[in-house]
Amino acid sequence: MLAIAILAAGKGTRMKSALPKVLHPLAGISMVERVLMSCNGLSPQRRLLIVGHQAEYLEEALSHIPGLEFVLQKPQRGTGHAIQQLLPILKDFEGELLVLNGDIPLLRPRTITKLIEHHRSSVTDVTILTAKISNPEGYGRVFVDQNDIVNSIIEERDCTQEQLNNTLTNAGIYCFNWKQLAKVLPKLNNENNQGELYLTDTIAMLSKPRHIAVDDSTEVNGVNDRKQMSNCESFFQQRLRDYWMKEGVTFLDESSCTISENSFIGKDVIIEPQTHLRGRCRIGQGCHLGPGSLLSNVELGSNVKVSYSVLKDAKIGDGVEIGPFAHIRPEAVISDDCKVGNFVEIKKSQVGTGTKISHLSYIGDAELGSNVNIGAGTITANFDGETKNRTIIGNESKTGANSVLVAPITLGSQVTVGAGSTLTKDVPNGSLALGRAKQLVKRNWSPSTKAQD
Ligand code: UD1
Ligand code: MG
Repeated sequence: MLAIAILAAGKGTRMKSALPKVLHPLAGISMVERVLMSCNGLSPQRRLLIVGHQAEYLEEALSHIPGLEFVLQKPQRGTGHAIQQLLPILKDFEGELLVLNGDIPLLRPRTITKLIEHHRSSVTDVTILTAKISNPEGYGRVFVDQNDIVNSIIEERDCTQEQLNNTLTNAGIYCFNWKQLAKVLPKLNNENNQGELYLTDTIAMLSKPRHIAVDDSTEVNGVNDRKQMSNCESFFQQRLRDYWMKEGVTFLDESSCTISENSFIGKDVIIEPQTHLRGRCRIGQGCHLGPGSLLSNVELGSNVKVSYSVLKDAKIGDGVEIGPFAHIRPEAVISDDCKVGNFVEIKKSQVGTGTKISHLSYIGDAELGSNVNIGAGTITANFDGETKNRTIIGNESKTGANSVLVAPITLGSQVTVGAGSTLTKDVPNGSLALGRAKQLVKRNWSPSTKAQD
């Protein structure tokens, strides 16, 4: 039987943030969710999250995670005090308690599995994860005897000058025999530099504490401040780019691009410099993204080209060309083989196959048929000051340059709109619509005749 407890009640003072530390995202996923992900495949009986500072906020932000139990620690008097809160909750529990600090987001699931296996195959009350770190600043130091049994963990602030030279550090991940831990938890005291109850002090009270050292110490990097968070972000970004490169994606300048964990990128996609994928993006095979583009929660078909553009919550078909300098906003659905050119904004609109909106247009709350040609500067005037209204344009229609379509309005198919028209009434199939003042030409006119005009 296994229970998992994640410590997330602390203030995260060193982050200097209004957002709880463990909710800060790394490659699009919060730190604490990453810690939960590192426990994937363990099938524990209980998953307990210790919350305290901004507890309600954390509970709300993580309410979508099934089976996660929130345990309140108030006030927060240290990591040992946090685990003391489990004494009534796990009163009848028998088995191991895996404890993880909520600020260690880089752990790999196989490291946790190894820790538990090692613990189960040894005669011990606790096994901790350690790391040899050349610059162990900020970490608790782990002291072992000649048989590699852990004698104690001493926090950096409580170390003597000599003890600080020890580079074996506590990663903040522990596998305890719960019944034994429950016996010693009430004995903790706060006689240390911070005046807190330290979970690490239980180690010296337990029988034959063991440790296993991680192979790659970056895995146990804790995030206590923005600099450490930035280092972790870089690590995730590198890991993601390495993964997608192995899957057949080209990056022209990989370090200038960022990818979210929940994005999928097809084969033979080329990603140019300064291009970023956020949220859940699905990028089809052979797309060419960037340079200079930001895509959030978008689905692209295959062979789509996007340059210097911003796309959000939209769906794009195969072979579409977007940009440079286009803005595709939420609920835009653009079908195959369309072209969306420079300085075009599309919002909450469906665009049919092969339609071209090549220059300087706003298309909002509209439905465009297939093979429509939207002339430069065409605007759907969708807002009447109170409500948003729809514009419908049938197949193979054309709007001239600088047309204003005042919604609600429907243009049939094969309609032609003369350049410079402002249309307020529906136009039937196959018609020409002109809505502009007739041109006036005065012959032999000069400024001196102006007064008589
Ligand atoms: C802790 C360890 C240290 C280890 C390091 C690894 C202790 C005493 N020290 O130090 O040995 O090397 O992690 O990263 O455990 N928390 C609570 N309630 C509290 C206080 C903290 O839930 O009352 C939570 C925090 O939200 C955080 C975790 O415990 O997720 C660790 O706390 P933090 O203050 O970051 O401890 P470190 O100084 O990093
Ligand atoms: Mg920490």
